[in-house]
Amino acid sequence: MGESKNITWHASEVTKDERLQRNQHKSAVIWFTGLSGSGKSTISVELEKALFNHQIHTYRLDGDNVRHGLNRNLGFSPEDRKENIRRIGEVSKLMVDAGLITVTAFISPYKSDREAVRQLLDTDDFIEVYTQCSLSECENRDPKGLYKKVRNGEIAEFTGVNAPYEAPTQPEIVLDTEILSVEASVSKIMDYLQQHQYIDSI
Ligand code: ADX
Repeated sequence: MGESKNITWHASEVTKDERLQRNQHKSAVIWFTGLSGSGKSTISVELEKALFNHQIHTYRLDGDNVRHGLNRNLGFSPEDRKENIRRIGEVSKLMVDAGLITVTAFISPYKSDREAVRQLLDTDDFIEVYTQCSLSECENRDPKGLYKKVRNGEIAEFTGVNAPYEAPTQPEIVLDTEILSVEASVSKIMDYLQQHQYIDSI
């Protein structure tokens, strides 16, 4: 990949603080991580809806969707997953700068890749949400029929089966999706955002 040379950063004259002031809420990335089938997409869709309904400026980025466009040239090797997460991190940073509560739903299996995104953002702008769910339960749910394909040898390097998943050790929020309903999971995140003054009490 070529590197750009002779480029100069040109600062905008509308600041992030001015945008937050106008929006009347903070911006941040709510970064879901977890196995395929653990609930990331489902919960993030409902969370985006709840935020939107409370007048919050928000946008959701989802693994399967982003891989149709921005990242359609990437596969599932460790290098490609790293690049996938790096690009999403950069896009999220722009969205946070634009004043949005950005919700991302990617497996993001490597701790170092998630940490790199955290480092890219200002302190408190990265909220890691772990959708905790055993592999056997994810496999039972198998919403996309992918685990079945993996067991039939049709998909290689599948996270949790024949590719690694490194669970977060200190996520801001843990959602045990084997116990919590989607609604309860959304409430837990909304409570966190209120308690930490990202958004006003509702
Ligand atoms: S990540 O590992 O790079 O973060 P991402 O979240 O973008 O993954 O994409 C995961 C989605 O791609 C899964 O939900 C699943 O639908 C699909 N997928 C296809 N092949 C694989 C694979 N080998 N491992 C994991 N997910 C896969």
